[in-house]
Amino acid sequence: MYKVLFATSEAYPLIKTGGLADVSGSLPVALQSLGHEVIILLPAYPEACQRTEKLKTLTTLSLPHGEVKLLEGYLPGTKVKVWLVDCSVYFNRPGNPYLGPDGDPWHDNADRFHLFAQVAIAIATSKANLNWQPDIVHCNDWQTGLIPALLHTESLSHEQKATTIFTIHNIAYQGLFPYSTFIALGLPEELWSSEALEFHDQVSFIKGGLVFADRVNTVSPNYAKEIQSPEYGYGLDGLLLHRSDRLSGILNGIDDTVWNPETDPYLKTNYDHKKLAGKKKNKAALQKEYKLPNEPNTLLVGLVGRLVHQKGIDLVINSLPELATLPVQFVALGTGEPAYEHALRDMARLFPKQISVNIGYDEALAHRIEAGADVFLMPSRFEPCGLNQLYSLRYGTVPIVRRVGGLADTVVDAAPETLKDKTASGIVFDNADGESLYAAVIRAKELYQDKKIWKQIQQTGMRGESSWKHSAQQYTQLYELAIKDCQK
Ligand code: ADP
Ligand code: GLC
Repeated sequence: MYKVLFATSEAYPLIKTGGLADVSGSLPVALQSLGHEVIILLPAYPEACQRTEKLKTLTTLSLPHGEVKLLEGYLPGTKVKVWLVDCSVYFNRPGNPYLGPDGDPWHDNADRFHLFAQVAIAIATSKANLNWQPDIVHCNDWQTGLIPALLHTESLSHEQKATTIFTIHNIAYQGLFPYSTFIALGLPEELWSSEALEFHDQVSFIKGGLVFADRVNTVSPNYAKEIQSPEYGYGLDGLLLHRSDRLSGILNGIDDTVWNPETDPYLKTNYDHKKLAGKKKNKAALQKEYKLPNEPNTLLVGLVGRLVHQKGIDLVINSLPELATLPVQFVALGTGEPAYEHALRDMARLFPKQISVNIGYDEALAHRIEAGADVFLMPSRFEPCGLNQLYSLRYGTVPIVRRVGGLADTVVDAAPETLKDKTASGIVFDNADGESLYAAVIRAKELYQDKKIWKQIQQTGMRGESSWKHSAQQYTQLYELAIKDCQK
């Protein structure tokens, strides 16, 4: 069993912008229940400080930047320790952890996550006066990419050095900054090379993880393959292909204590796969909340997510006028690119009886959509894993997804043979265009007319295994492999 420092820039329920937070708030708990000792390392954002249980100061570190405090507390409702990097000039900012109030990235993101990496390195190399040194430093996404790179440049023996894992949650976000930032941060000169952090004359934080971590993984087996191709690799496919013997995919799980229709406190009525009648009450409540007519038999389509190109929101917007005339009802919750926000609002104005949108971030409403909608739309252009389709499956809300990334790994298309052998759990379509999306919704609408078949699809999804247990075991194996690599 290992001591694991789990470095991440968000963790539910302390701070969340997307699925990374869900994973960082639940994988460490699952790892700990397998016997590992896991400590989450997170920036001390104000919300995170408020929500961390039993918070106290652990130690003060002297870094080139000055003194930085490390606070210790617990992830709410768990025995997993959280260490918060308290540097108020960088992290004491409310709201989105990466973006300022104008919606643009904070001007000093490189400094912020460089400092975060320095703290991780002080801990990993026993320079933090803590009497605790991790065997594994588990890094997540570009914000933690400098950790493996800087650890690599430390002159330490194998015994003194922690083993590093880098998990890619999204290769499209790379942490790219100009060369002047590389100089300003004072990064070791040896890292300025195309075999290290340099990427087309810029410094790439994510490359620090991809090049230097002992093992790299991503959040579904299919996405692990996809990112080794130019279509999905965002310019890093060559490097990933080169490291393919160290690259794998491990599917995300879901936190059953947070996403479970039997116990979910946000729902009108709780239900399970045997008592699906409760779902109908949630549908009626959702129609009311979204000010849509109470129509029990009209297919209610739900969408929750970041309104960005990745998620195929433009495909949805383009097909909405036709979908509205079918008719189906459509409810959405999300924030993101202003053009998509405006277009969705316009659609709601044009079709007030069929379309209703909420532009915002609302955790409780996201749960009510998962419970109240009949189908859930995820027409993503790419999707490393995707958690919303897993929540939909769990809530008996049939997912309509594109055949990409983790969506392809987790949803089984309702075709004659899968309906016959009872493995069908959703609707899967191939092309990223409005017609294919429209055709997929039509298919859902047809299946929805046959109550028996529909119930079978719902129950197949609800009974499926999506807990963290299996995936946490796979992470344990990954840690073992990485440690063996380092001992060679
Ligand atoms: P990604 O991480 O790419 O955004 P995922 O499907 O993995 O996509 O996870 C998204 C998570 O963020 C889910 O828990 C989803 O419910 C949540 N989420 C996204 N947008 C919103 C929103 N506007 N309000 C509430 N929850 C949201
Ligand atoms: C990313 C991906 C999403 C994944 C999540 C958690 O944000 O876009 O597909 O589920 O990370 O791993």
